[in-house]
Amino acid sequence: MNTREKLLELLESNRGVYFSGEEIAGRLNVSRTAVWKAVKSLQSAGYAIDAVTNKGYCLSRDTDILSAQGIRKYLRVSRQQVSDPDIFVLDTAVSTNAVVREGADGGMPEGYTVLSNEQSAGRGRLGRSFFSPRGTGIYMSILLRPGNCSPGQAVRITTMAAVAVCEAIEAVSGEQAQIKWVNDIYVRDKKVCGILTEGSFGLESGLLEYAVLGVGINVYQPEGGFPEELLDIAGAVLTDRREDVKNRLAAEFLNHFYGYYGGQGHGIADYVEEYRRRSLVTGKRIAVLSGNETRGAVALGIDDECGLLVRYDDGGEACLSSGEISIRL
Ligand code: BTN
Repeated sequence: MNTREKLLELLESNRGVYFSGEEIAGRLNVSRTAVWKAVKSLQSAGYAIDAVTNKGYCLSRDTDILSAQGIRKYLRVSRQQVSDPDIFVLDTAVSTNAVVREGADGGMPEGYTVLSNEQSAGRGRLGRSFFSPRGTGIYMSILLRPGNCSPGQAVRITTMAAVAVCEAIEAVSGEQAQIKWVNDIYVRDKKVCGILTEGSFGLESGLLEYAVLGVGINVYQPEGGFPEELLDIAGAVLTDRREDVKNRLAAEFLNHFYGYYGGQGHGIADYVEEYRRRSLVTGKRIAVLSGNETRGAVALGIDDECGLLVRYDDGGEACLSSGEISIRL
């Protein structure tokens, strides 16, 4: 860690507390000039650091900037779940899923986690793009290397992530979060989060070599609003500014996700009941989209693999394991 990172760790873990330049220099084992330069660098990155004569420096409680140090202070992930997740926060990225994929191919271990303050070409499901404006969202990708995982089991990564996002949102914001099958998260009837899991499978084994779990959460309304085509669908978790929400939300997601995902050689805890409880579509009229065809149906419920049980308008019943539905309100 360089001086700036060490200083951020100290200030993040002690928000609202003043440290004199001398004390910081002593703790970090650097000169006072180095401390001053690190303070300036953090301030120019947007950190509200108060500098008061005879008191020293203090990070304001309401700063809301994503950082590895800020996320770590809320993490409760044990070594059994994943050996010390390696967290990186980028200022900008084309797509955090692409960054983590590259790391995976280069041999990065499970738990490698990349977040970005914005994405210039965020990827969504079914080849779509994911709107990822600067500063108002969390765009995060995690590398997973579950041992002996078949394509069927791999689907669970996405569905357990959906439950973990809902739990994190509720813990941090108090807002109720629901899942629109398969993996869109809704708050106040608007989509606030999308999940995209990309996998690499061994040609011979047919087993998952690694998965990149990508989660995009709209925490606040984007500064210029959502683009026209998203206005009816997209929303944000919060309507008002709160203290340090982004770091807390990212950490709570990891805490809840790793609580379900056992990691290499460990089992997967039961999360399906929670998924079912949060299903937004159960009992509702839906449209099932497949290729160019759209069929009216009623969503009957969620099966044990998080498949969607439907009854079509012609009376036929099916269990959908993937695909796209829309809710008919
Ligand atoms: C969807 O709703 O279609 C899925 C959206 C997934 C977006 C996240 S943001 C972080 C990660 N990086 C990407 O490029 N996509 C995922």
